Amino acid sequence: MNPSLVNRIRAGGGPPAHVAVIMDGNGRWAGRRGRRREYGHRAGVLALRDVVSAALEVRLPVLTVFAFSDENWRRPPAEVTSLMSLLELHLRREVPELKRRGVCARVLGRTRRLPPRVRWAITLLERETRQGKAMRLNFALSYGARREMARAARRLAREVADGRLDPEGIDEGRFAAHLYTEGLPDPELLIRTSGEHRLSNFLLWQTAHARIRVSPLLWPDFSGKAFLEMILDDQLRAGGNPPVSAA
Ligand code: FPP
Repeated sequence: MNPSLVNRIRAGGGPPAHVAVIMDGNGRWAGRRGRRREYGHRAGVLALRDVVSAALEVRLPVLTVFAFSDENWRRPPAEVTSLMSLLELHLRREVPELKRRGVCARVLGRTRRLPPRVRWAITLLERETRQGKAMRLNFALSYGARREMARAARRLAREVADGRLDPEGIDEGRFAAHLYTEGLPDPELLIRTSGEHRLSNFLLWQTAHARIRVSPLLWPDFSGKAFLEMILDDQLRAGGNPPVSAA
């Protein structure tokens, strides 16, 4: 990795507590090369590996990446099938390395909708990396923020209906405890690639106070170095100040 970037981030007070990433641009990257979208997704996996490695180098506590959205189910069936195969393959293949590097990997989203083989790969991944202490790595998969919030509301309503909760006791903390990110700090920084300035139904509750940085690079061209540069740039601009939530 780039020791100077890592050292500068550490010297500046360390990385944020949580960085969330919208990996965008695989399809366009492939299209520009006259290739099918799947080719871009495969290249995207390599970029993701490099970013995870950089995140570990800089000792980022929590990294959440948007791997497959609720909306992605509407893509052509052939693309969905190939993305599912890619996910299954890599979620399985990366287990030893993630375990060796102390990563605790979890999946956030409606996993029931995923094919059984992907669900099984997730079960193994989560079970095998459960003890990881170096970094929490969340894959948002079959994930949509609005549905996540509706699910939290449903759970709270059930508690009220069962007489276990007084409606007056519902506050932000209680609501957040029913989100997939329960117990984790909110992302302080949200990175999106490919120049798009949209949240795309990603972590809408959790990013209420996050700083947003957009990279012009398409995701397969993104890298661990680009990731660290964005963290450093954010650190310099934020001036080491605490997140806005404290203001
Ligand atoms: C967005 O590019 C990217 C995705 C929909 C999938 C991202 C998935 C990966 C990088 C693979 C993840 C792998 C693992 C193991 C978690 P796009 O297709 O929307 O690109 P476009 O905006 O150019 O069309």
